[in-house]
Amino acid sequence: MPFSTLVALSCLFSLGIAQTITGQYDCLPAGGFTLCQDLWNQSAGVGAQQTTLLDSSTETVSWSTNWTWANSPDNVKSYANAKSLLSNGIQLQNISSAPTSWHWSYETQSSDIRADVSYDIWFGTESSGDPASSASSYEVMIWLAGLGGAQPVGTQITTGTFIAGLTWNLWKATNTNWEVFFFASAIGDINSFDVDLNDFFKYLVEEQCVAPTQYVQGIQAGTEAFVGAGNLVTTAYSVSILPT
Ligand SMILES: *[C@@H]1O[C@H](CO)[C@@H](O)[C@H](O)[C@H]1NC(C)=O
Ligand SMILES: *[C@@H]1O[C@H](CO)[C@@H](O)[C@H](O)[C@H]1NC(C)=O
Ligand SMILES: *[C@@H]1O[C@H](CO)[C@@H](O)[C@H](O)[C@H]1NC(C)=O
Repeated sequence: MPFSTLVALSCLFSLGIAQTITGQYDCLPAGGFTLCQDLWNQSAGVGAQQTTLLDSSTETVSWSTNWTWANSPDNVKSYANAKSLLSNGIQLQNISSAPTSWHWSYETQSSDIRADVSYDIWFGTESSGDPASSASSYEVMIWLAGLGGAQPVGTQITTGTFIAGLTWNLWKATNTNWEVFFFASAIGDINSFDVDLNDFFKYLVEEQCVAPTQYVQGIQAGTEAFVGAGNLVTTAYSVSILPT
């Protein structure tokens, strides 16, 4: 390869070339994360979505997802998300802290947007298991926003519960194989979220009877798109789990 080509390539890489995915289940390796489109219920609507990896390292990822979906305003079409490759395989009782930081904004949004911005965290009795599989005992969603009046499904079981220095309404639902807890922000959109997720885990063990022997099988962070159009930009996201 001529020297000039090498120089050109290294310049390209140092500029950081954004990579974009468009297919229903397309994913990209992103440092310590996997970034996925996950348009799992796209057939409930008509539209398109594309997800762009902006930058990544072992600790941090930045990305955006731009979408437009029509029809079935109460049904989620997609969950474009970054899944940590490192924050899993540990029992709740063996976690000392789980620091996370997520800075995001919907840079554009239609007037009829319905979407949430949420963590989707999976627990099970085995140390590993795919999200939303027969290995899942619990799904724990933390909704940092419910745009356009989007709400969790199931039943609201608490109001104004104070966890990690913030106030939440807790919802509970049952899925085919697992129970779902939703912590929905009671204080509006939380665009800068810097907390210890272990505060939520301890609450679930102490107040909601989740067994401390449950393993964290996966932590995802993304946006569920219901209807409308928007461009979610995550300028920085990180999560880790520190053992006792
Ligand atoms: C996907 O959306 C449709 C609405 O078109 C809904 O009936 C169905 O339950 C959704 N799928 C799941 C698995 O929620
Ligand atoms: C988002 O998608 C819309 C419609 O395809 C397009 O007009 C717009 O330029 C896109 N914005 C970004 C930031 O990609
Ligand atoms: C996890 O915690 C339990 C209960 O405190 C303890 O018995 C066990 O040794 C711990 N396991 C690890 C791997 O630290």
